[in-house]
Formats: sequence, C-alpha cells, structure tokens
Amino acid sequence: MEVVRTITELREHVRNWREKDESVGLVPTMGGLHAGHLSLVEHSRRHANRTITTLFVNPSQFAPHEDFATYPRKEQADHDILAAAGNDLLFAPNVSEIYPDGHSTRVDIQGLSQILEGEFRPNFFTGVATVVTKLLLQALPDVAVFGEKDYQQLCVIKTMARDLDIPVQIIGAKTIREEDGLAMSSRNQYLSVEERKIAPVLYQVMAQVAQNVRGGEQPASQRTWAEAELTKAGFGAVDYVAVRDAQTLDPVRDASRPARVLAAAYIGRTRLIDNVAV
Ligand code: PAF
Repeated sequence: MEVVRTITELREHVRNWREKDESVGLVPTMGGLHAGHLSLVEHSRRHANRTITTLFVNPSQFAPHEDFATYPRKEQADHDILAAAGNDLLFAPNVSEIYPDGHSTRVDIQGLSQILEGEFRPNFFTGVATVVTKLLLQALPDVAVFGEKDYQQLCVIKTMARDLDIPVQIIGAKTIREEDGLAMSSRNQYLSVEERKIAPVLYQVMAQVAQNVRGGEQPASQRTWAEAELTKAGFGAVDYVAVRDAQTLDPVRDASRPARVLAAAYIGRTRLIDNVAV
C-alpha cells in the first residue's frame, strides 16, 4: 500500500485508476484506527474497485480547549492495519497541504450544524464540512464512507454533498461496538480502567430510551430519566440526550417516523457521544 502526502500524487493515482475504468471509494479518518474504521474500509471495498483512506487530524474541527495536541497519532500502526485490510492508498497530508498560507474558505451548513453537537462545539461541523469538501474534491471518489457513530456528522456531510452538487454517494456504516455495547472510538483510549467500566452505561441507557419511545413514552420525558441514570452510574455533565427525526434531526413527539436517540456525556475529562435507532 502506497502512502502519498500531496494532492498532486493523490490525483495521479486516481487518474491512473480512472484510465482503467476502476471506481474509487474514499474513507476519511483522523487515524487512531480501530475495528470501526476497518468496517468503513470494508464498505468502501464492497462499493468500489479502489479504496483511499485519508489520515489527517484536522485542526479546524478542534476548539482551542479540545484535544488536538493529544489526539492519538500512530501513523505506522494505522498504515499496517490498512495494508492488512486491503486498502489501496493512504493519503496522509501535512497541515500546510490542506490549509496552505492564505487559505480562507469555510463550508458552513446552516441549521443542522448548529443543533446538538453544534451547540456544544460551535465550530466543529464547519471544520468537518470544510475538510471533507476538500478531500472529496481532491480525490473525486464515486463513494465516500462515514460511520453512523457520528450520526449528526453523517447527516451534515450528506447535506453538504447534496447542496454543493458534489458527485459522490455518501454511505453510512453501522456503528461497531465492543462486546459490552460501548461504541468504538479513538477517544476511548483516554478512559481510565474505572471509567471504561462505566462507559457502556451510555449505550444501555440510550437503548432503553429507544425502547421506551417505541413503547409509547413521550421523547421529552426521557431526557430527565436518562440523565439521572447516567449520573447514578458515574457520568459527569450530560450535554444532551435527545430523540430526533432520523433524517432532519428535528425534535419528534413520538415514534411514528424513523427516529434516533442521540447523546453526549462526560466521564471524567472524556466526552463520549453515541446514538441508537428508535
Ligand atoms: O470522523 C472523523 O474522523 C472526522 O470528523 C473526519 C470525517 C475524518 C473529518 O476530519
């Protein structure tokens, strides 16, 4: 598996594949790869002849107080995992390749990026949408795969690709969980042994909320119950537990349309997010 660091080299590979009529899949990541990322690569390989995984810890999606400096960076380990998984090309650009001096364009999705995660991380989705737009335009893949683990991010990216007429199919891949239900995430490695024991309660509580709403409970009543359960288990601040329309992420009153439970909460200094279908 080759590693390239420049947009020119990336495009050269894509051009060579296109000349042979091969289709291309893109898997954008920030590295710290785990089984969840590998399932994205598998999805891409099922949908396209060639798969490019990108590895770029994108500074523009981190707020100054967040974990940009300490985010897991393990390029050699990520490289070996991807090579074994049959990934064709690793695009690992430097910050200056993506954001050269003078870079001043931002992609901003109104509405959808200001709710839920957007309320607590105000510049996050602008950073994500900007870098994903750039990666899509750099590689021009047929498909691009993102995890449902970051469900709102997936909705934002689908909206962005549609609104900007980027000719790509955005595919959502199911969340991969540990045996005890904890959603796999690069940030799970921040958890202490004690915190790791508590962490799966987030999924258990959300699954119960989904079941309650399916059984006819009002979504609005569930937040208080869920927050109390999380606090009892040892969680700190609960940013949100919300039941939303699965497509628009608007609030819902019942389970008559496909809906999603979404939540974000802290254990110690680590912020976990997760979501489950109602
Ligand atoms: O989900 C992620 O890892 C990142 O937000 C993404 C999509 C690679 C953009 O930096």
